[in-house]
Amino acid sequence: MIIVTKISDVRTQVAAWKAEGLTVGLVPTMGYLHEGHASLVDKAVSMCDRVVVSDFVNPTQFGPGEDLESYPRDFERDCALLEEHGCHMVFHPEVSEMYAPDACTYVEILSDMPKKLCGKTRPIHFRGVCTVVSKLFNIVMPDRAFFGQKDAQQLAIIRRMVRDMSYGIEIIGCPIVREADGLAKSSRNTYLNAEERKAALILSKAVFLGQRMVSEGEKDAKKIVNAMTDLIQSEPLAKIDYVSAVNGTTMEDVLKIEEGTLVAMAVYIGKTRLIDNFTVGTDGFSMGEGRQ
Ligand code: PAF
Repeated sequence: MIIVTKISDVRTQVAAWKAEGLTVGLVPTMGYLHEGHASLVDKAVSMCDRVVVSDFVNPTQFGPGEDLESYPRDFERDCALLEEHGCHMVFHPEVSEMYAPDACTYVEILSDMPKKLCGKTRPIHFRGVCTVVSKLFNIVMPDRAFFGQKDAQQLAIIRRMVRDMSYGIEIIGCPIVREADGLAKSSRNTYLNAEERKAALILSKAVFLGQRMVSEGEKDAKKIVNAMTDLIQSEPLAKIDYVSAVNGTTMEDVLKIEEGTLVAMAVYIGKTRLIDNFTVGTDGFSMGEGRQ
């Protein structure tokens, strides 16, 4: 595995691979990798001849007062995991390599998509994500790029950006990876103390409740969201940011559950903000026909 910190070195290596007729996959990450990231790398390795993983804590997607400084980092451990999973190149730039001090160009989706769900409390987040992902696409020029469905809104926004900007890159969404007890894997789980770790299970419990209601035939989005909200509120350490049922492509609120509906949540456990979700018709379960 090659470790690269300069944009020009990424370009030279990728050009050499392309000259050999090899396909290139990109897995963008912010490091502190876990099995969720490993599953993206595995998928990329299975679909591409060469796999580039970017490991970069992107400052432009953190708002004031968010956890940019404290965001966990362990590059050595990341490299060991990436090597084990067959990554060919890790791109680990300094902030100054990615952003000139007077950088002032951003990529932004101008629909309501980035203002919904996480965008309500993180107004500049998706502009930062689109900007850095767009830069990574320009640097690596991959054939395919791999993103987790845990960040379902991010995935939908990136798909829209790729379509609108004609990137010609295939975007592959990969399923949420969970701990044995259900908690969705996240680099931020590391912030949780023992008591909070137990309390955090309320997110996946709410996801499983919502999935069960859908598979039993419930189609009223409000009933599902209310039941999930009540369950989360029964956990004293949990503070809901949002629980919403939206169209999984446009992020518009929906009244009726159908294929492609995204039921997503963000919940604070103590000071740690966690997200989880399910999409109807994927995630290994489907709608029941019971109640209409
Ligand atoms: O999902 C993430 O880890 C980040 O938002 C991404 C896509 C790597 C951009 O910084």
